[in-house]
Amino acid sequence: MRTPGPWHALIADLLAHPAVGETADHMHHGIPKADHLLRSVRYAWHIAGWLRADRVVCVRAALVHDIDSRLGTLRTHGAIAARWAAARGESPAVCHAITSHMYPLGPAPRTREAWVLVLADKAATLGDARQFVAGLFDGTSLATRRRLRASDPWLATRPARWHLRLRRRTR
Ligand SMILES: [Fe+2]
Ligand SMILES: [Fe+2]
Repeated sequence: MRTPGPWHALIADLLAHPAVGETADHMHHGIPKADHLLRSVRYAWHIAGWLRADRVVCVRAALVHDIDSRLGTLRTHGAIAARWAAARGESPAVCHAITSHMYPLGPAPRTREAWVLVLADKAATLGDARQFVAGLFDGTSLATRRRLRASDPWLATRPARWHLRLRRRTR
């Protein structure tokens, strides 16, 4: 995975991790999860500059903050991603930022860097929605959803709910 920008060198090792690469095939907010993660990295870089936070901590936390998010709930997936990061040697500062990124759903941020990730993730979610809606007008959003439905192992084991309901109704 590549992301042009001054933040690239700070996260190049994480970008090369297979679990991060796989997120290009996972759906998140109706778009590839990798798009959400890289958008979060970009926003975290800029917000960290405005708030004078540690950019290395912010962008590293941003890149993996939703890893394995399906294994938890809205409240708990931050802690799951933080455990993943800790197991790969990320600092306590990075892991804390990841743990609290869903605030106010979940633990409160205690550091400047953790607040940066809260803001970057919320802003990136709005950016994801904008990307999805813009893609509805040129057909790319639905094509991407179809591609991700086939490539995302999580979705492959879960038939679309509306599809099941429709089948039940027509029986
Ligand atoms: Fe999240
Ligand atoms: Fe997120």
